[in-house]
Amino acid sequence: MINDIKEIAGIAGEIIREGFGKNFQIEYKTNEKNLVTEIDKKSEKAIMDFISKKYPNHNILTEESGEHKKDSEYLWVIDPLDGTTNFAHGLPIFAVSIGVMKKDEIVAGVVYDVMQNIFYSAEKGSGAFANDKKIKVSDNDKIGLGVLVTGFPYNVADNPDKAFERFESLTKQARAVRRLGSAAIDFCYVARGVFDGFWEVSLQPWDLCAGKLIVEEAGGIVTDFYGNEIDIFTQQILASNKKIHQQMIDGLKV
Ligand code: IPD
Ligand code: CA
Ligand code: CA
Repeated sequence: MINDIKEIAGIAGEIIREGFGKNFQIEYKTNEKNLVTEIDKKSEKAIMDFISKKYPNHNILTEESGEHKKDSEYLWVIDPLDGTTNFAHGLPIFAVSIGVMKKDEIVAGVVYDVMQNIFYSAEKGSGAFANDKKIKVSDNDKIGLGVLVTGFPYNVADNPDKAFERFESLTKQARAVRRLGSAAIDFCYVARGVFDGFWEVSLQPWDLCAGKLIVEEAGGIVTDFYGNEIDIFTQQILASNKKIHQQMIDGLKV
């Protein structure tokens, strides 16, 4: 299955790469911060068509068209373009994110970094890879020596779940905090040890499904802000190399 997921992520990525920098339609979703482009929709359609042909009885959950329920223990969780704001403004940091669950467990995930042409992938129990090369989280055990990454939801102006206080706290403690604009890529950079940790207050299932497995298979951990296990519907996400996890939990107490 992992090869199929990579194949379809690659096809979707090609559509996105083709559209990058061109004229495309943009619509607002909940507000002027929250965009969807015609390329998000085209990418999603290509992914859906592929799954419908190859795995016709599998359930699907996507960002742009919601739930497609069939009778299966498999669920595909799809973000056809993670980093839409970057894409729409010409910043080449965005990805296709596809996770597959069997019952309640994430069993496979692919994040395709479109402009760098890197396929991050993981299957449960088999490690995590970047273009077929094994990756692992960083070794650092001091938050003060770490570089962290975060993101903000589209309703950030309302300061949901103390987003700004948490940002201030961890920014003071870490060596640096970055904000890339693609949660799927944030997870992958934790998985390959570029960043030591990632947190965000309001993620959605399609932002995190594939990334969570990739971090875990690279030796990291993904919990809520208190260290509790999460499922794909949990909105508070804390991913790290394990070694600084408790320090990040303490930093998020505001
Ligand atoms: C967004 C990105 C961003 C994160 C937002 C997400 P989208 O996804 O992952 O990094 O901060 O919370 O909604 O809308 O570009 O698919
Ligand atoms: Ca997303
Ligand atoms: Ca998206």
